[in-house]
Amino acid sequence: MASTFASLISQLLIVPCLLLLSSGYLYVSEAQTPPLVSGLSYTFYNTSCPDFETIVRTRLQTEFASDIGLAAGLLRLHFHDCFVQGCDASVLLDGSASGPGEKNATPNLTLRPQAFQIIEELRSLVQNQCGSVVSCADITAVAARDAVVLSGGPNYSVPFGRRDSLDFATQNDTLANLPAPTSNTSDILSSLATKNLTTTDAVALSGGHTIGIGHCTSFTSRLYPTQDSTMDQTFATNLKITCPTTNSTNTTNLDIRTPNVFDNKYYVDLMNRQGLFTSDQDLYTDNRTRSIVTSFAVNQSLFYENFIIGMLKMGMLNVLTGTQGEIRANCSARNPTSSTLSSVVEEGLETLMGF
Ligand code: HEM
Ligand SMILES: *[C@@H]1O[C@H](CO)[C@@H](O)[C@H](O)[C@H]1NC(C)=O
Ligand SMILES: *[C@@H]1O[C@H](CO)[C@@H](O)[C@H](O)[C@H]1NC(C)=O
Ligand SMILES: *[C@@H]1O[C@H](CO)[C@@H](O)[C@H](O)[C@H]1NC(C)=O
Ligand SMILES: *[C@@H]1O[C@H](CO)[C@@H](O)[C@H](O)[C@H]1NC(C)=O
Ligand SMILES: *[C@@H]1O[C@H](CO)[C@@H](O)[C@H](O)[C@H]1NC(C)=O
Ligand SMILES: *[C@@H]1O[C@H](CO)[C@@H](O)[C@H](O)[C@H]1NC(C)=O
Ligand SMILES: *[C@@H]1O[C@H](CO)[C@@H](O)[C@H](O)[C@H]1NC(C)=O
Ligand SMILES: *[C@@H]1O[C@H](CO)[C@@H](O)[C@H](O)[C@H]1NC(C)=O
Ligand SMILES: *[C@@H]1O[C@H](CO)[C@@H](O)[C@H](O)[C@H]1NC(C)=O
Ligand SMILES: *[C@@H]1O[C@H](CO)[C@@H](O)[C@H](O)[C@H]1NC(C)=O
Ligand SMILES: *[C@@H]1O[C@H](CO)[C@@H](O)[C@H](O)[C@H]1NC(C)=O
Repeated sequence: MASTFASLISQLLIVPCLLLLSSGYLYVSEAQTPPLVSGLSYTFYNTSCPDFETIVRTRLQTEFASDIGLAAGLLRLHFHDCFVQGCDASVLLDGSASGPGEKNATPNLTLRPQAFQIIEELRSLVQNQCGSVVSCADITAVAARDAVVLSGGPNYSVPFGRRDSLDFATQNDTLANLPAPTSNTSDILSSLATKNLTTTDAVALSGGHTIGIGHCTSFTSRLYPTQDSTMDQTFATNLKITCPTTNSTNTTNLDIRTPNVFDNKYYVDLMNRQGLFTSDQDLYTDNRTRSIVTSFAVNQSLFYENFIIGMLKMGMLNVLTGTQGEIRANCSARNPTSSTLSSVVEEGLETLMGF
């Protein structure tokens, strides 16, 4: 009921982009801002949950103070959510091929378990305040934005109104939609083109690798049996110490210069042949993307602008809106259907819905 009310409100409040841009925290000019998918709006929760963004920002500030690595986990979670089936919180469902479900989990897609826990925590905090009106997909999107901001990156507004899927993606779907770290630029560009993301978007979004870590298994194909000729020698020597075998369970930072800061140093790494994955380094090797890498390496504002554009586009991929999907009361499980619901009513509907 509350969610229907929220979507009604959002339809009534048609807010011009100008309003948002004039307030100054968006780095992107109006002409560059991608048009909003119908059903999403910057003021979606203004009435139904006005404190939503503050609750999330405040909580994440505390969480990141004890472990800044969680920021990377949350940013990557949103990427995986959006690329597989759309930004619909499908990644959060138990049993999802890229989610925490043990049965179907693919080891090479391992996302930090703590990221899932934090989303559930945020969901609970928001639900206590507003009821079950904010979707898990929107919480994931705003957590990714805050991960960027609280790691020193740019602030930007996120449009809301995404709804949560009723089903999770299959393992095949997950593998088909997430590019592998062994991809070259051609693979990356064609993979992202299927999502209407441009060459510039591809380079800018890869800049998400300015924070976080990778496991040896994601890059040891560049070390053994023969060393990738586009890799700096000292960098390679050190990686071989961290990963003495291809199957080592060790991890290393994605950005060798400033591993926990959301800045443009990732592109400086690439120019110095210190990109970790093939998909990273080849952006500098390939002459279709090299000049974009260089332009971001020398101009952080330019990177920020294009990263925001990429994130806004990515954040609108195949979203469910209006009456599609549902607002999950628990991010890791579908809402009980009416028949299951009647059996739990006696246990207390209030507890279930979080009111
Ligand atoms: C362009 C294609 C991409 C490829 C091939 C790729 C691949 C990977 C791989 C293999 C890992 C490390 C997994 C591991 O070994 O533990 C990783 C980590 C990460 N990726 Fe990507 N990624 C891509 C795009 C993105 C995008 C678009 C974002 C967000 C904007 C992103 C954000 C991250 C972050 C933050 C981490 C670190 C996660 C952590 O520390 O827990 N990636 N990525
Ligand atoms: C919605 O809330 C945002 C953030 O508090 C504010 O900037 C904006 O003016 C509000 N819009 C409306 C239509 O109330
Ligand atoms: C970041 O953006 C939010 C709205 O999206 C705004 O409330 C906040 O004041 C901004 N913070 C900074 C530091 O610009
Ligand atoms: C998944 O993909 C594999 C190989 O591409 C195929 O053999 C298998 O039938 C697919 N499974 C499903 C459930 O589609
Ligand atoms: C995961 O591993 C499988 C087989 O080991 C490989 O085919 C696939 O490309 C990998 N996917 C990613 C996203 O790394
Ligand atoms: C990129 O990799 C694919 C295989 O994934 C290969 O077929 C293609 O030739 C490569 N392209 C370039 C330009 O190296
Ligand atoms: C890409 O754009 C086309 C044309 O606007 C649209 O039909 C298609 O659904 C879009 N694809 C995705 C994945 O958003
Ligand atoms: C993990 O990395 C350290 C150096 O960073 C190395 O000494 C150790 O052998 C590695 N362990 C494994 C299991 O690969
Ligand atoms: C890793 O590979 C090495 C050499 O192939 C092997 O001796 C070792 O048992 C493997 N370790 C694991 C954890 O699989
Ligand atoms: C990229 O390099 C290829 C082969 O060296 C060349 O044919 C092509 O013109 C170059 N393209 C650009 C945009 O520089
Ligand atoms: C860096 O990029 C910003 C944003 O596009 C632009 O306004 C600025 O002029 C650029 N700075 C330099 C030194 O080129
Ligand atoms: C959410 O759903 C999962 C999976 O069904 C369950 O394990 C967990 O206990 C539920 N959490 C809450 C708070 O209801």
